[in-house]
Amino acid sequence: MPAAPLIIATRNSHKTSEIRQIVGASFQVLDANDFPDFPQVDETGTTFLENATLKAEAISSRIDGYVLSDDSGLEVDALHGAPGVWSSSYGGEEGNHASNNARLLEEMKNVGAENRSARFVCTMVIARDGKALTNFRGTCEGRILPTAAGCGGFGYDPLFAPQGHELSFAELGADIKNQLSHRARALAQVLEWLKQQSF
Ligand code: IMP
Repeated sequence: MPAAPLIIATRNSHKTSEIRQIVGASFQVLDANDFPDFPQVDETGTTFLENATLKAEAISSRIDGYVLSDDSGLEVDALHGAPGVWSSSYGGEEGNHASNNARLLEEMKNVGAENRSARFVCTMVIARDGKALTNFRGTCEGRILPTAAGCGGFGYDPLFAPQGHELSFAELGADIKNQLSHRARALAQVLEWLKQQSF
């Protein structure tokens, strides 16, 4: 039997490839690249859950099947939870990882080693026919490094070392990141939920 399709409500190919690796052969993971008329969804919410719901509902109203959205970001305790839901435009330009990382380093330049705790957060929503059905949240605790290190992953990965590791996510590589990450933890719950559904 062919693997059931799982449509990811994203244009971020890094998210899709991590989800594809975590899910393995159990689903055929598709995203905006597979649908020419995939709508652009404005992320006007003020929480991860609001934005994930906007994306999942908008895409699933146009495309058949279960649609999964991922809204995620980095919360830094010394910055009172920033950049949080605005992680992708923290440096001023949407999706510019270099400027996001530069701003984070600047904001953290006077913060001592003992106060550099942070976490990645991922909220996933599953929707069908334009309606959100359920949502899950995964987090990954860690700390912000004093300088960027490594070239794997994406976004803030060169600046984030997960708890129990000295190296950044970008240095640890995909196999380790995809066991520990906020995305992996949210997705484990998604897969449990999908197992109970009919396709
Ligand atoms: P979203 O597309 O609104 O969910 O924004 C996600 C943003 O959060 C990305 O552009 C990154 O800046 C950051 N982010 C989310 N997940 C990760 C991750 O796994 N590694 C590094 N940065 C991430």
